[in-house]
Amino acid sequence: MSKPRLFVTRIIPPKGLDMVQALSADYDIEVWQDPLPPAHDVLIEKVKGLTGLLCLLTDQIDANLMDASGPQLKVISQMAVGFDNIDIPAATARRIPIGHTPGVLTDATADFAWALLMAAARRVVEGDKFTRAGQWQTWGPIDFLGPDVSGATLGIVGFGRIGQAVARRAQGFDMRVLYFDPKRQSEAEQACHAEYADLDTVLREADFLSIHTVLSKETYHYFDDAKLKLMKPSAVLINTARGPVVDPAALYRALSTGTIAYAALDVTEPEPINMDDPLLTLDNIIIAPHIASASFTARNKMATMAAANLIAGLKGERLPNCVNPQVYEA
Ligand code: GLV
Repeated sequence: MSKPRLFVTRIIPPKGLDMVQALSADYDIEVWQDPLPPAHDVLIEKVKGLTGLLCLLTDQIDANLMDASGPQLKVISQMAVGFDNIDIPAATARRIPIGHTPGVLTDATADFAWALLMAAARRVVEGDKFTRAGQWQTWGPIDFLGPDVSGATLGIVGFGRIGQAVARRAQGFDMRVLYFDPKRQSEAEQACHAEYADLDTVLREADFLSIHTVLSKETYHYFDDAKLKLMKPSAVLINTARGPVVDPAALYRALSTGTIAYAALDVTEPEPINMDDPLLTLDNIIIAPHIASASFTARNKMATMAAANLIAGLKGERLPNCVNPQVYEA
């Protein structure tokens, strides 16, 4: 009799992959070897008759895919904290538990938001390009000036784990931290020395604005022309959350007309960004390829956490980190 099947949609860090491979006595395990994700129609074929799926944020996990798999699918475990690529209501309706990896990438992501903030403020990427182009001829007293970070106002939109970690780091720079979140986080705001304000105030007063909201129907293109127009012309916008939270056309207009000064993105719409996207023609933007969680520790922990969720689901146990615990309700 053939063994139940597991599919892992990409090569993940070895600590997590070893945990999955250790199940090979009881499961047929396929790990997608290509550096690019499987196309959606290929994924649909792969999941037919599957028992457990370990996927990434680059995989579109919709109702079609769940139905193509069949009722024996016990668990979908995603190696990411965000899960906007997964149709959660569809999974819940089919009683499929969805795993994710919260907490373990908080510091790595907050560090990277800061890396982008500092790189944008002090024009690190432009400076590097200048050096490599052989344009560095002397020490220039008026070259590469940028806004001060120390003492500036940091605005944070979305004050969950990552937003709070970004705020804590600001203390070392003597910054004033203002945050907006639909739910006021009174305890965390005290611990992080952050002040709660309405969104317009945060937008108006921030020298640096760091975005940490989830992507949902409500936050799609949340940062549009109207919101960007409230910001200071000297402001720097940093997005390490999800690309579609910012309307890219509005961002292009804001950066190209001086509505805001600079942007630094780790996420874009779409991903990867199209090479003919007008944002790529601008000098006042840094665009990284969605790497905020790419520290050795964070990615290893994400992989082991995703493997642990998968294994629990296969055993019929409650996932240690479950997005839709409603599946366990009677
Ligand atoms: C990364 O963006 C994640 O959601 O884990």
